Amino acid sequence: MEVHVIRRDNRHLYADILEDYFRLRHQIYVVERKWTDLDRSDKREIDRFDTDDTVYLLGLEGRRIVAGMRLVPTIAPTLLSELFPQLALNGPVRRPDVYELSRIFVVPNRRGEHAGPRAEAVIQAAAMEYGLSIGLSAFTIVLESWWLPRLLDQGWQARPLGLPVDINSMSTVAVIVDVNDQAWTEICSRRSVPGSMLVWQGLAAIERRVIGDPVPAI
Ligand code: COA
Repeated sequence: MEVHVIRRDNRHLYADILEDYFRLRHQIYVVERKWTDLDRSDKREIDRFDTDDTVYLLGLEGRRIVAGMRLVPTIAPTLLSELFPQLALNGPVRRPDVYELSRIFVVPNRRGEHAGPRAEAVIQAAAMEYGLSIGLSAFTIVLESWWLPRLLDQGWQARPLGLPVDINSMSTVAVIVDVNDQAWTEICSRRSVPGSMLVWQGLAAIERRVIGDPVPAI
């Protein structure tokens, strides 16, 4: 699996894959997870946080999607600022060096794998690599509380932004996670991720940081 960076500048190279992606999100979030508020007549799960500024990291095998993650700049509206502000006691984070992660998934037949690195770990390592590459200092995440020990166990420094709240019968919490080299090397070593996973197709002109280089100013 390679993890492709898809953003405003190279979306045209992934038009068919993005169409599959939004349909897959419908299947996973509306059908499987039963987040029925997200249901739309066109059976694509797409919302107001899917904008030109949104970055998608998609784990692909050929043109087939295995895993995905969405990154939204926190200077734009986010899940935390618009839908769940009660989860941040000091108000939602709005900083150019912080992006919000959401919609992490692995396709059902690739979950819980034990041979080799799990797709779930690869996509998260790739998110950390992306954050380092563009000079971010943190991610925010609105997550179901069961996920928090998993973040800590993969070596990420995650700090709650508020108390857990019951949302649709699910304990939910907002956290901020440091983006740093250690978080990347820890998840790689603890989860057997072999190293850099990102593919920057069509983005060659964009400056990006090799891990270990000084962090650029945003
Ligand atoms: N509630 C509680 N625990 C959950 C869960 C849920 N909705 N989804 C997964 N878990 C737990 C599993 O019980 C499992 O625990 P175990 O290892 O002790 O059995 C563990 O997380 C691993 O989950 P699994 O699905 O087997 O494998 P994975 O690590 O490869 O993938 C996800 C994890 C979350 C990426 C995958 O389950 C998925 O894509 N789920 C649908 C999308 C989703 O809910 N994403 C999170 C919100 S955006």
